[in-house]
Amino acid sequence: SPEAAERLEALVRPVPDYPEPGVVFRDITPLLADGDALASVVDELAAWTTADHGTVDLVAGMEARGFILGAALALRLGVGFVPLRKAGKLPPPVESVSYALEYGEATLEVRTGTVPTGARVLVVDDVLATGGTAAAAAALVERCGAEVVAMGFLLEITGLGGRDVLGRHTVEALFQV
Ligand code: PRP
Ligand code: HPA
Repeated sequence: SPEAAERLEALVRPVPDYPEPGVVFRDITPLLADGDALASVVDELAAWTTADHGTVDLVAGMEARGFILGAALALRLGVGFVPLRKAGKLPPPVESVSYALEYGEATLEVRTGTVPTGARVLVVDDVLATGGTAAAAAALVERCGAEVVAMGFLLEITGLGGRDVLGRHTVEALFQV
């Protein structure tokens, strides 16, 4: 609902010129620290997943903040969680995909074999900005031979083109700034 979205938005702090000049960073830590807000975010993402997509086999979340919401959502949905990690954090063998960030560049990796062929996977992160991270996450899941059922976010920063980058994927964000 618009009221629920407003309550969430009020708990996200805009920080100008972080981590570099010209970027307005949206800090979600006040929202995470609010028990009611955290529960409602996880409940809303779970309700949306089940209503629109039925069951999924796994939740995958991107390091680091995608781990927080993703693990909570996996528990709520009664499925496992797969961490998509920054380069060099997982032991081999791994699959790797590199991507451009709003600020900088990075590589995401998944442990080979943790996402089974044919699995229905929900990809979750806190913020959709340029979509680079999410596109890399989707590419990793698909490289495992699995299906990206949908991509769920707490917050979408509109105007950076993230939704267009994700093109053919179903994208849900609980609120937009
Ligand atoms: C942030 C955020 C998303 C990504 C969104 O993570 O949590 O994962 O950037 O940006 P994009 O849509 O432009 O790719 P970051 O890479 O800063 O890492 P962190 O979670 O470890 O802080
Ligand atoms: N806030 C949080 N995470 C982000 C942002 C932001 O503004 N941009 C890219 N990732």
